[in-house]
Amino acid sequence: MIFNYYLPVNIVFGRGKVSEVGRLTKPYGRKALIVTGKSSALKSGLYDKVSLSLKKEGIESVLFNKVSRNPLTTTAMEGAAAAKENGCDVVVAIGGGSIMDCAKAIAFIAENEGDINDYIFNRRVSDKALPLILIPTTCGTGSEGNGFAVLTNPENGDKKSLRCSAIVAKVSIVDPECMMTMPKNVLASVGFDALCHCMEAYTSNIAQPFTDALSTYGIALITDSLCKLYEKENGEAELWEKLTVGSTIGGMVINTAGVTLAHGMEHPASGLKNIVHGQGLAALTPTVIEATYDGKAKEKFEFISQKLGGKKASDCADAVRRLLEKLDLDLTLSDLGIQKEDILWMSENCMKVSASNLANTPAEIGIDDIVKIYEKSL
Ligand SMILES: [Fe+2]
Repeated sequence: MIFNYYLPVNIVFGRGKVSEVGRLTKPYGRKALIVTGKSSALKSGLYDKVSLSLKKEGIESVLFNKVSRNPLTTTAMEGAAAAKENGCDVVVAIGGGSIMDCAKAIAFIAENEGDINDYIFNRRVSDKALPLILIPTTCGTGSEGNGFAVLTNPENGDKKSLRCSAIVAKVSIVDPECMMTMPKNVLASVGFDALCHCMEAYTSNIAQPFTDALSTYGIALITDSLCKLYEKENGEAELWEKLTVGSTIGGMVINTAGVTLAHGMEHPASGLKNIVHGQGLAALTPTVIEATYDGKAKEKFEFISQKLGGKKASDCADAVRRLLEKLDLDLTLSDLGIQKEDILWMSENCMKVSASNLANTPAEIGIDDIVKIYEKSL
């Protein structure tokens, strides 16, 4: 057995931990660029809490609140310019996956010359970035646990991740209390994304013992908590803790074992139509499982199926469909605005931006299969 596991992230987990952001940021900088979405961190009061905690430790801050869903490479370049103009030496992100990913890209390109797209497509490489402090407010993306930042290039629709250890957070403050205000539809889609991270990393061709141990635990945590939280008005704190740990684990395992075909096919769809990532995954995942379960990872699909109430690997897709119905996520690509005419572009784009996902997929998949899966998911 030969493998390598490297993930230098400091995860500070617990209810109320966000109030320690000042102390936790102090070793890394004197002036922070705080990256948020357009309004939610301001409305929830979390921005005030964070900036006050920084101030108490003598850390100045500047707000950059221009990040929206499926963050753009151009927004990252704009944020990096703001960091440089203001002399910021640390980046603090408050938000969901889009915000954390954009903050990572800002921290990266603020320290490197040129166009971020060159680094995304590995035409240039660097191991430098401003130090990052991440505070997730959704439990789904797992961005707090990895060195990925998924960005969309608005010029051509390419949605692809920047990947390097320099954008692994110096500290990720994972506070379940920050998740509890999520609207139900957000909870459903981010929770399903987290489950997909664990399922795809578990069945990936480059899975290894550490990622297997973590992903199976992550799958158990998420399947035990997600539907219960979705169905209840106010879920118990322990359930939020379970789901939050599960989603951070999902982010960690994909750093090493990668994601597979469902993520590989979702990125062209959301790059083209600004789809909610978890909804795109919901529309594609059952059909992707049907096309891939009977390959190298059949036993692992059986394990997943059983965790979701099925029996065999061949039941796995239907078990996922039942889960999606409970979460009101039984969607098609047509429901999300994708049309038949989009399939050729998405299939070709998938071959371009998702080559590593295809390599990780535990079944032989070519462009003809991708076209068929998109058609079946319409
Ligand atoms: Fe994802």
